[in-house]
Amino acid sequence: MSAAAAVVAAGALVVAGLGAHAGAAAGSSLKDLAEAKGIYFGTAMTQTDLGNASLTAVAGAQFDMVTPGNEMKWDTVEPSRGTYNFGPGDRIVSFATAHGMRVRGHNLVWHSQLPSWVSSLPTNQVQAAMESHITTTATHYKGQLYAWDVVNEPFNEDGSLRQDAFTAAMGTGYIADALRTAHAADPAAKLYLNDYNIEGIGAKSNAMYSLVQSLKSQGVPIDGVGFEAHFIVGQVPSTLTANLQRFAALGVDVAVTELDDRIQLPANSTALAQQATDYSNVVKACLAVSRCVGVSQWGVGDADSWIPSAFPGYGAATLYDNSYQPKPAFEATATALGGTPGTPTPTPTPTDPGGASCKVTDAVNTWNTGLTENITITNTGSTALAHWALAFTLPGGQAITSGWNATYSPTSGNVTATNVSYNGTLAAGASTTIGFQATHTGNAAAPAAFALNGAACSR
Ligand code: G3I
Repeated sequence: MSAAAAVVAAGALVVAGLGAHAGAAAGSSLKDLAEAKGIYFGTAMTQTDLGNASLTAVAGAQFDMVTPGNEMKWDTVEPSRGTYNFGPGDRIVSFATAHGMRVRGHNLVWHSQLPSWVSSLPTNQVQAAMESHITTTATHYKGQLYAWDVVNEPFNEDGSLRQDAFTAAMGTGYIADALRTAHAADPAAKLYLNDYNIEGIGAKSNAMYSLVQSLKSQGVPIDGVGFEAHFIVGQVPSTLTANLQRFAALGVDVAVTELDDRIQLPANSTALAQQATDYSNVVKACLAVSRCVGVSQWGVGDADSWIPSAFPGYGAATLYDNSYQPKPAFEATATALGGTPGTPTPTPTPTDPGGASCKVTDAVNTWNTGLTENITITNTGSTALAHWALAFTLPGGQAITSGWNATYSPTSGNVTATNVSYNGTLAAGASTTIGFQATHTGNAAAPAAFALNGAACSR
């Protein structure tokens, strides 16, 4: 094992939740340092990212929370009424599970990336469509997510409620209704409201504050507020800590959910140094507030960031450059998390095959209403896997009733089979066999679309 691999492996022994913001470790990954402080350090990832081996190596080594960038949004999940597409989101969950990361679901109700069929509905049908979208989606992911952004970006800049299909149908009440519906579907997920430009004290954050206060006083299930934190270099609000603290005092968790810090291109060393200070200040703000549960950046590296396309001329907004080399903000972040300045950054150890580096063979035995399926997974990549998760799609009408050598969730549709304690390590070239018993209603065909740790498998 290389020295870098040893650092990462040793870091894996650090367990989350060691007490709010206590303890510290040196020379570790961001996630190890964060966990030693009782918080997480996360990133957004998209389906496309899963095929990028450099990116997945960094993501698996450095982050312990994933937010799907687009894959759980309404336009992906329910592109037409009642037709659900969980494959993309499932693949992100699968990657996260295989790398010991938790997932923030993003998002259930948002005016943007909303399919036009919702905004074209007669007003009196919007509530039913919203409730059914929330129930079906949150039920699908039940038990698999740490949190849901239930309502995303509900406010205008002046603090007024954004007018959209949901307010047109239900007024402000859609927010409480969405939270109650999500809670009924997945009582264990932490339920968040998430917005941007609410990081400092001002009209928009005051509106969010009043809303949370009102929801809490009505007993509406709300667990947290997400502060997106899409900053411009040098402009982190001075009231960030005080603002996080006042929300926490309402009895909710707070989290920095989409951190990036954009720079006018080309980024010079002065701007990169300021960005390092900015990242450090954001981490310090979270650590100063005991109910701040974590910080996530939006995209793994500068090449994955939404900034250049949304703000032409700007970019360089994340911790990693276009080649996934850590920038000054990385070391500043590690130092703010309690790491030792100057400690070499652990080089990511690829544990993910990237691309199609797996092969699956399967054998089905069927009878009139049931079947058993044995699946042999071969790691055809050149690196060993430390954990694995095999995603596949069960034909309609099939439901898993029991399984062996893996845990299966959910039991129908887009299923993920996750390794058990004794078969998580899969050396290059090695195979392992898992299986399950299922009921069927006539279609006893084998599963389709096998993917191991997010990479499609050959058969
Ligand atoms: O999927 C289509 C593709 O078929 C088409 O060819 C292509 C051409 O433009 O567009 C593709 O869709 C894009 C989608 O990302 C998936 O890549 C949309 O145009 C693009 O607008 C969309 O951008 C996303 C943006 O949300 C939309 O508002 C970004 O990737 C995503 O990072 C960003 O994330 C948001 C958070 O959800 C909420 N907070 C702000 C944050 C940044 O905008």
